[in-house]
Amino acid sequence: MSARTAIVTGAARGIGLATAKLLLAEGVSVAMADRDADELARASDGLENALALPYDVSMPADVDAMVADTLARFGRIDFLINNAGVADFGPMEDHTFARWRAVMETNLDGVFLCSQAVIPALKKTKGCIVNIASISGLRGSTLRVAYGTSKAAVIHLTRQQAAELGEHGVRANCVAPGPVRTKLAAAVHTPEIIAAYHDAIPLNRYGSEDEIAGVIAFLCSDRASYVTGQVIAADGGFESTGVGLPALRADGAGPA
Ligand SMILES: NC(=O)c1ccc[n+]([C@@H]2O[C@H](COP(=O)([O-])OP(=O)(O)OC[C@H]3O[C@@H](n4cnc5c(N)ncnc54)[C@H](O)[C@@H]3O)[C@@H](O)[C@H]2O)c1
Repeated sequence: MSARTAIVTGAARGIGLATAKLLLAEGVSVAMADRDADELARASDGLENALALPYDVSMPADVDAMVADTLARFGRIDFLINNAGVADFGPMEDHTFARWRAVMETNLDGVFLCSQAVIPALKKTKGCIVNIASISGLRGSTLRVAYGTSKAAVIHLTRQQAAELGEHGVRANCVAPGPVRTKLAAAVHTPEIIAAYHDAIPLNRYGSEDEIAGVIAFLCSDRASYVTGQVIAADGGFESTGVGLPALRADGAGPA
């Protein structure tokens, strides 16, 4: 994928940082955007062909600057990875409008703003967008009234983008990760939630940042050149199953 350029949002840590590093290893130049300027500076230190952009994806002026800086440095944009996200779990009655908006501003408004801002550049390169949603956007769950709804909207936004941009040769796809032990997950996954995920996931474990990055890089690559409008759950099988896994395992039918 050499001579290509990507913008990865939320690239200072977690899934975004793993994705930036994988794309860099594949020869892609990467603009790493994150509103946590200190962590971004640490994460990008020493990375060749990387540009650190301390911007907030929910602020239109920041997003315009992110795109302008990337074009000024690299001259083109082939891939936009809309990965920046926040999580806030809590009962519906306790979700103030401010908490709801804080989730929507980054998880949904940010995806809309960044995507809109790169469309002219993507049309030139016949590039692609990869949006990061979540299994919480595919299935309802407790405590995720804002987070799950924002991610479901990102899944549908992906389909809107694929429908409208396809005739320009621009693809849009979505990755819905299962649980990954990042700082975001650590803040909202209680020991009970961790145990419940292990029970409900056929592969019986959390995923890694690199396993999600691999799916994102595949969707960017020419190997996915006829794939658009799709949601790929990188979730150890969570979304594909219903009830019964723990009981089967207890009977010795599942993995140890
Ligand atoms: N970790 C999981 O279990 C999991 C599961 C499903 C989906 N996801 C999604 O994957 C994505 C990455 O999550 P992660 O687990 O790596 O989280 P993380 O908290 O480790 O990293 C997220 C990064 O995004 C940045 N960020 C947040 N809001 C921003 C904004 N408005 N502008 C710019 N940067 C911003 C943060 O500063 C942080 O560096 C998110 O969209 C998240 O919802 C994560």
